[in-house]
Parts: sequence; structure tokens; C-alpha cells
Amino acid sequence: MFFLLFFLALFWPILPHAYEYPLSPKSVPAADLARFESWVQYAAAAYCVDNVKAKEGAKLSCPPKNCPYVQQADTSVILSFTTPVTDTAGFVAADHTHRAIVIAFRGTVSIRSIVFDWDPVLTKTNLCPGCMAEKGFWYSWIAVRSEILETVGKAIIEYPDYQIISVGHSLGGSIATLAAASLRAHGHHVILYSYGSARVGNRALSANLTAQAGNYRLTHTVDPIPKLPPLLMGYVHISPEYWITAPSSSKVQPDQINVLTGLVNWHGNTGTGPPLLGDLPAHLWYFQSVSLCAEPMPFQ
Ligand SMILES: *[C@@H]1O[C@H](CO)[C@@H](O)[C@H](O)[C@H]1NC(C)=O
Repeated sequence: MFFLLFFLALFWPILPHAYEYPLSPKSVPAADLARFESWVQYAAAAYCVDNVKAKEGAKLSCPPKNCPYVQQADTSVILSFTTPVTDTAGFVAADHTHRAIVIAFRGTVSIRSIVFDWDPVLTKTNLCPGCMAEKGFWYSWIAVRSEILETVGKAIIEYPDYQIISVGHSLGGSIATLAAASLRAHGHHVILYSYGSARVGNRALSANLTAQAGNYRLTHTVDPIPKLPPLLMGYVHISPEYWITAPSSSKVQPDQINVLTGLVNWHGNTGTGPPLLGDLPAHLWYFQSVSLCAEPMPFQ
């Protein structure tokens, strides 16, 4: 992976930039911004060990100011999960205040190992014909798939007017994407919020997912993780991209989120240069510090 990054850094300027024609960027309504700022707090909550190991019926919580939207709501954990082998962790919770069933996945606790040790390989999925996903993401998802499908299936019978939200940051965003796809294949209407997700699959999978309604894939300035795995390995993103152009630690305004369409769009995060380790701080800031709860800290 490291050599690949080096290669990309060298050849970036001559890679095919006119791969797909983008629409011109447009900004989001203030209501969308509010939703993005709210649901990311569930991605933050999934980093807290107390939440991913919570007992059924427990209330979700975070360190001060890290997830007030979650903490002030009437929440109840339905299922929490941590798997030793694939390192998939998260929870399914009912949020009675916002009338939602939320499936939240934890991101990786070692981004450095993503960048240096990760060998992304596409593997077959059962989502649609020819649809392939990054093997690690796919196996992380199928480790918890049956449990989550069953849990959500029961919860939506109990709370039929609730929305189903799949959310995650970083690796968690990639798993949330596959979770949304599987749940939709089982007939559920799912809204996906992914923050700083890597590319999840090949063109067939991304096109199929893109055609489904309710995808909010957020990226932030030069975040290196959504630039991986490289296009040259056959990976593309789902569309649209909501690209946050505001710097870390600042209050984001609606015109600082550009909406970009296409499986490859060079006018958003993808066009901001090669994935650099030094750009990782942009990965850790999505309206707030998302991985504050992570242990060890993501740089280790
Ligand atoms: C996505 O794949 C599913 C399963 O094969 C199929 O039913 C659906 O029509 C596909 N959607 C699109 C837009 O291709």
C-alpha cells in the first residue's frame, strides 16, 4: 500500500482527470446541514466502548459535548456488537426522540494500519449481479449481518413509523454502506450517512447503490481515506458526494458543503491530490472530532 501511495503521488498529475463529467457543485439547504451534524454524533458514539458493549435497554452516552444530539435523546440499545476477528463493532439503538432505529458502526482504531498494511481486494457479494466489495469491509459486514437483519426486522415491526438510519465514520462508514445495501435488499427503507468512508466497491456495486434513494456520503477537504482504494484498482464511490470544504474546527456553513454527482468526480475530495498521511487530521474532523472516544487514538 505504501508503494502504491508513493506511485500515486508521483503520477497524480497525469492520471485521467476527465474520467467522468461532473455536474457543477451546488451547496446544501440548511436543514441538510443540520442532519449531517446530528447523525455524525451516532458515528462518534460508536467509538465509545461503553456503547458497543452496552446491555440491551442501556442509554447511549459519550464524553462531554461529543454527542449531545444522542445523549439528550431518549435512546435504548437493542443490540451491541464487537467481533474479535473482523473488529466490527457498533450497536443498533432505538432513538424515541427522533423516531429512528439507528445502526452505528465504529471506525478503525488504527488508521495507520489502513494506510500501511491494507491490501484491498475485491470480493463477490450477493447484493447484485457483478457487484463486488472490498473484502475486508464485506467480511466485517457479514460477521454481524444476520444478527443485525434480525434485530432491525423485529424493531421496525415494533416501531413501524421510525426511520432506519445506517451510520458510520471511516471503516464504520464503509460497513454502514454495505449494511444499508443489504437491509434495502431485504425490503427496508434505509438512510445512509457515511463520513470519511473509503471506496467500498466496484462500478456495478456503486452504480446499484447510487440508484437507491437516501445516500449521504460525506467527505471533508483533503481527507485521504476516501481517496482509497485507488481508482486504478477498480474501485469507485457511490454518488452523490457531500464535500465539506470548511477547515477543521470551524463552524460549517451550508455553502461550504458541495454536492457532487458521479462515481468519479474530480471536483470534490478526489481532485484534491494524492492521499497523504499528513492529511489525516481532515479525516478525524467531520463537524466535530468524531473519534474522540477511540482507544488507542487513531494515529497509533
Ligand atoms: C440492484 O440490484 C438488485 C439486485 O440484483 C436489483 O433488483 C436492482 O434492480 C438493482 N438496481 C439497479 C438500479 O440496477
